[in-house]
Amino acid sequence: MQSIDLFGKLKRFKVLDPSLTFLSFFLTAALLVSCFFYSDYRGYFYGRVNPGPMTLPVVKGEVDGVVVEDGNVRGKCDWFDGEWVWDEGYPLYQEKDCRFIDGGFRCKENGRPDGLYTKWRWQPRNCGLPRFDAKLMLEKLRNKRLVFVGDSIGRNQWESLLCMLSSVVSEKSSVYEVNGSPITKHKGFLVFKFREYNCTVEYYRAPFLVLQSRPPPKSPSKIKTTLKLDQMDWTSVQWRDSDILVFNTGHWWNYEKTIRGGCYFQEGKELKMEMNIDDAYKKAMETVFNWIRNEVNPNKTRTFFRTFAPVHFSGGDWKNGGTCHKETLPELRHPLAPLETLPQYKVLNDVLSSLASTLPTMNMDILNITRMALQRKDGHSSLYYLGPGVGPAPIHRQDCSHWCLPGVPDVWNELLFAMLMEDKDNPV
Ligand SMILES: *[C@@H]1O[C@H](CO)[C@@H](O)[C@H](O)[C@H]1NC(C)=O
Ligand SMILES: *[C@@H]1O[C@H](CO)[C@@H](O)[C@H](O)[C@H]1NC(C)=O
Ligand SMILES: *[C@@H]1O[C@H](CO)[C@@H](O)[C@H](O)[C@H]1NC(C)=O
Repeated sequence: MQSIDLFGKLKRFKVLDPSLTFLSFFLTAALLVSCFFYSDYRGYFYGRVNPGPMTLPVVKGEVDGVVVEDGNVRGKCDWFDGEWVWDEGYPLYQEKDCRFIDGGFRCKENGRPDGLYTKWRWQPRNCGLPRFDAKLMLEKLRNKRLVFVGDSIGRNQWESLLCMLSSVVSEKSSVYEVNGSPITKHKGFLVFKFREYNCTVEYYRAPFLVLQSRPPPKSPSKIKTTLKLDQMDWTSVQWRDSDILVFNTGHWWNYEKTIRGGCYFQEGKELKMEMNIDDAYKKAMETVFNWIRNEVNPNKTRTFFRTFAPVHFSGGDWKNGGTCHKETLPELRHPLAPLETLPQYKVLNDVLSSLASTLPTMNMDILNITRMALQRKDGHSSLYYLGPGVGPAPIHRQDCSHWCLPGVPDVWNELLFAMLMEDKDNPV
């Protein structure tokens, strides 16, 4: 009886007494504000307030304005040493406006409730990243071929670039796949043409970069295929002479995607039944870099190698129930694990270090995104990869490898843009 009475009184007060209404509003607001500052959200304000246009160099229609301070061995800015800053100006495009994103990356349409993950900009420590300018990039690509080669994380980045570039093309039908193929979890390759610019932006699926094909005759029956660690993927003849090449690999160099499925290693005519996966990966990377040095004309083709994009499964991995769906913020406070603890990164880095003396003659740049992406545990498709209308995936079948679009791969493309623009003497 009494409690109902009290409730009735409170209700009356709220409606009738304006001063009390105001007071309760004020108290609630104060509580909310203090919660805000004491919660994780304070990360946004901890020295990370959007620096505004004064400190963000905006390059429009020219490349000379790119700030070149400090730098790496080549005397240029180290774009990859920096931090994530909150920026209301992001994302660079909307999911609903881009028809090139496949179902697996359409997180918002697939039901992902939070959108904070689209609002982070990468800020290099010692210089500014030029603002992405799709028209300028398309002009740079005029009459050229830009080719992504690698696994599905490469496709993730390729779709992102299609969205970023097509956002300035008003006639939708002028951007099309040359064979009319749809974008799906595609095997093979896809070639999109931007008619006005006579350029193509292409993706070739080659998750190992080296050749996977039939085993030698008379091999034991458990051997279904072999990876020829000393030969490039068979599609390499199709993209060797393109103008810009962007490689990536890493996610398939594990037991489940090789030996478990009957895929063993081979060098020359010899099967290497005992070879471990990291050694095979290392041999393959040597093959790739030697091929770039010997087969790719540095006067015609500018080559990029994107480093491993880390996964963020916790409490398991992709095959046994690991999750990431509760992550809504990047890791901004805790130190990251050393990159060397990621085997896929370490192998690549070891091979690159051993080649250090010859790298400068190769016209190849490293798109060194591992560290920055390691912070972005909030950026993955998690439960929201099944395609619009299907609903979230079962809780223990999450995708913490691929990235939502718009999202983290957009930033890799901003870096690609910056590197293409930085060097005005480079023909490509
Ligand atoms: C279009 O680009 C291709 C290279 O991708 C080039 O061979 C061709 O000459 C270009 N066409 C025109 C009309 O410039
Ligand atoms: C690239 O250009 C340089 C300078 O013009 C030339 O010396 C070199 O032979 C060229 N390399 C190839 C592979 O064509
Ligand atoms: C990539 O960046 C990390 C972190 O900044 C650095 O330690 C590493 O040496 C870089 N690797 C390459 C190949 O540039």
